Amino acid sequence: MAKLHLGVLGSGAGSNMQSIVDAIAAGTLDAEIKLVLSDVPDAKILDRGRKHGIPSQHLDCAPWKTKLEGPAEDRCIELLKGAGVDTVVLAGFMRIVKAGLLAAFPMRVLNIHPALLPAFPGVHSWTQALDYGCKVAGVTVHFVDAGTDSGPIIVQKAVPVLENDTPETLHARIQVQEHIAFPEALNVIARGNYKIDGRKVRIF
Ligand code: GRF
Repeated sequence: MAKLHLGVLGSGAGSNMQSIVDAIAAGTLDAEIKLVLSDVPDAKILDRGRKHGIPSQHLDCAPWKTKLEGPAEDRCIELLKGAGVDTVVLAGFMRIVKAGLLAAFPMRVLNIHPALLPAFPGVHSWTQALDYGCKVAGVTVHFVDAGTDSGPIIVQKAVPVLENDTPETLHARIQVQEHIAFPEALNVIARGNYKIDGRKVRIF
């Protein structure tokens, strides 16, 4: 059991980060969020972080629009290491992270994806699930590897797709499970009772 020192990267509302903050406050997750970084200067996740007294700052990722690379990646690593981060949490971070960050935190970068991977990687996966006619959708927390939404899976939760669902209602139902899944996955990492065996995360 080792307390996690988390760095959170996000681009949006930060409800997943909030679920981690709440789990820590409730004493159900042995962790501390050391730093919040967002590529979006006015993202709500930064306000949430500041509200909880967590150092929170904008990370300028220009000129790239969809990835974290080059000087921005270097700066990101420098900030995370400087804050004493040992585990990086992608909580709605709308950029592809590259080899530099993954090498700086080997098998210590986690992502949450709003689908039951390997179905529907990429963006708007809940809309993809709806359009496909799926009866079940869900959420996946996984280690990040060099691919897109392709790393070893730590936790998955399923949610039903209802007859009259819209993308918004389905995403809202998925988010309820996200907020359970992320603290649960981080608890696996904190307890250290897992082994990565190829694609499989064996939890014992
Ligand atoms: C979540 O649906 C997450 O799965 C996806 O982006 C969304 C972020 O939501 N990757 P929030 O910013 O945590 O509220």
